[in-house]
Amino acid sequence: MKKIVVLSGAGMSAESGMSTFRDAGGLWDKYPVEQVATPEGYRRNPELVIRFYNDRRKQLLEVKPNNGHKLLAEMETSFNVTVITQNVDNLHERAGSNHVIHLHGELTKVCSSYDPGNEQYVKELKPEEYEVKMGDLAADGSQLRPFIVWFGEAVPQIETAIRYTEKADVFVIIGTSMNVYPAAGLLNYVPRNAEIYLIDPKEVQIGSSRTIHVIQKGASEGVAELLSRLRE
Ligand code: APR
Repeated sequence: MKKIVVLSGAGMSAESGMSTFRDAGGLWDKYPVEQVATPEGYRRNPELVIRFYNDRRKQLLEVKPNNGHKLLAEMETSFNVTVITQNVDNLHERAGSNHVIHLHGELTKVCSSYDPGNEQYVKELKPEEYEVKMGDLAADGSQLRPFIVWFGEAVPQIETAIRYTEKADVFVIIGTSMNVYPAAGLLNYVPRNAEIYLIDPKEVQIGSSRTIHVIQKGASEGVAELLSRLRE
């Protein structure tokens, strides 16, 4: 089976009603990124950060996977599909994708504030636990923190993501402005003979000399078109 590796970003979930970050009216317009998505911001005002992610989690309960997520999951019947996502939502999994690598963490999980990378203290929240409070503690006695990779933090899953990217027959970029590294750098690991597709309703600037098949559409329509092109 052909190996398809997808790199998804916020635009993948836009049609489900999740906000993107860098579009006008995106999350980073409404919330200063240095307050809610950096270790320094968390140290300064943990309450604000915990509330921000509680709100994001609440939003998870209100949204559903869109046709783009569903088509990617269905592709597993004909292709070997790996989804590398920058998204912290669980919409790929809820659509039925079986192999999802989360580069930037997961909203549904919490971890230790002292030792955020330590798997031992990572815990999956049930929906009724989505509202984390100050004073809720990890097993090491520290405040429960969102299991999110913030700016300036290491991206432990990148090595795994690189391994899959290096084996791709087809690499598909969906709904990411390709501004954030190391995620955007995965493109450099795509084998020479692999095909690269980009699905985004807007033009995305990519600093690569590679030939990129651009499907200038939203995620749902774009993935449908990708499928028909792959079947040609
Ligand atoms: N379908 C597909 N793409 C879309 C859609 C849609 N319906 N709507 C918008 N987009 C595109 C935008 O045109 C843009 O290119 O999605 C992209 C979203 O880009 P960003 O907001 O920059 O999101 P992303 O690239 O995922 O951000 C990367 O930055 O702040 C961090 O950690 C956060 O994971 C995030 C990372």
